[in-house]
Amino acid sequence: MKVVHIVGARPNFMKVAPVLNALKARKGIVQTLVHTGQHYDVNMSGVFFEQLGIPVPDVNLAVGSGSHAKQTAEIMTRLEPVVAEQKPDIVLVYGDVNSTMATALVCAKLGLRVGHVEAGLRSFDRTMPEEINRLVTDQLADLLFTPSEDGDSNLLREGIPSEKIFRVGNVMIDSLVRLLPAARQHHKNDLPERFALVTLHRPANVDDSSTLRGILQCLLEVNQGLAVIFPAHPRTRKRIFDFGLDAGQLRVLDPLPYLGFLGLLCRATLVITDSGGIQEETTYLGVPCLTVRENTERPITVSQGTNVLVGRDPVKLRVELAKVLAGNAKKGSVPPLWDGKAGERVAEVLVR
Ligand code: UD1
Repeated sequence: MKVVHIVGARPNFMKVAPVLNALKARKGIVQTLVHTGQHYDVNMSGVFFEQLGIPVPDVNLAVGSGSHAKQTAEIMTRLEPVVAEQKPDIVLVYGDVNSTMATALVCAKLGLRVGHVEAGLRSFDRTMPEEINRLVTDQLADLLFTPSEDGDSNLLREGIPSEKIFRVGNVMIDSLVRLLPAARQHHKNDLPERFALVTLHRPANVDDSSTLRGILQCLLEVNQGLAVIFPAHPRTRKRIFDFGLDAGQLRVLDPLPYLGFLGLLCRATLVITDSGGIQEETTYLGVPCLTVRENTERPITVSQGTNVLVGRDPVKLRVELAKVLAGNAKKGSVPPLWDGKAGERVAEVLVR
């Protein structure tokens, strides 16, 4: 069986690693890894490959940044001849980034089978580019691998036949489980006893100057009582600079490698984020997470995990922060099938 994996952006890398490993252990499978180059900085891409033990991609499409249309079109144009020549039995795509949707479109039109790992998540907010990517990819995919029960229900409601849906659990948690011991060796002695770890990169939060100013003001307040450590996505750093905003005493860092970030995550007093994956990682680790978004495509992190949606309401953020600091943080549990074996289950389905 010939399998082609397509990745492009940072959150794809921790998801492809366990599937690559699980398939490597099975006989008769030839794997090809294609990187679209959506993320290209060393600290957004290369270092993740190294730390996660992902082989150097067989093909790099080097598409780089651009508007959504330009980036998506560029990925499609450059990918088409590659997959047309390879003629794989299945193309696997991951998550909800532009590379995921662009690949699904190209392969569906070439009559190539597509498997979507992390299918079925829905925020029901079509202003998010990722929601569009999720909807399109899931309609086109032939095999849909979901992380949790809500994913299955969303797909069934959208008319996807149940035979195409496989609940395998959370592949990103596989990477976390495998590398947590190594991550715990990072930042052992260089951290304040209590700190808030912050990440922000959603266009809705960082592309508008008054919204970003409001969030930074809130973080500066948090920083009065609790050190704020803020590894900033290149987009966020650029916006802070372009809008002439002041991050004051916040410890703004460059994006961190996987192990370094996980080393902070597992020790954080709390996390403030607008990321998707970090809502899941904090739920797994039992670390309180305040999500600066009005909705989430990962509702299980709220219903079962440690996640609280605070939206962009500074009052709500302050209230929830006070609860954590008073020792009354929300308690949670680890959702079913977030057990480090999801990649194995994907491989089993493919082989079957
Ligand atoms: C993408 C995903 C998002 C994911 C995020 C994780 C889409 C629609 N969005 O958003 O779901 O949560 O990755 O990081 O696919 N840039 C660099 N260096 C890089 C990559 C990007 O400087 O290596 C800068 C560029 O200015 C670029 C901007 O970041 O224009 C945004 O990059 P892009 O890939 O368009 O989207 P992300 O915001 O990273």
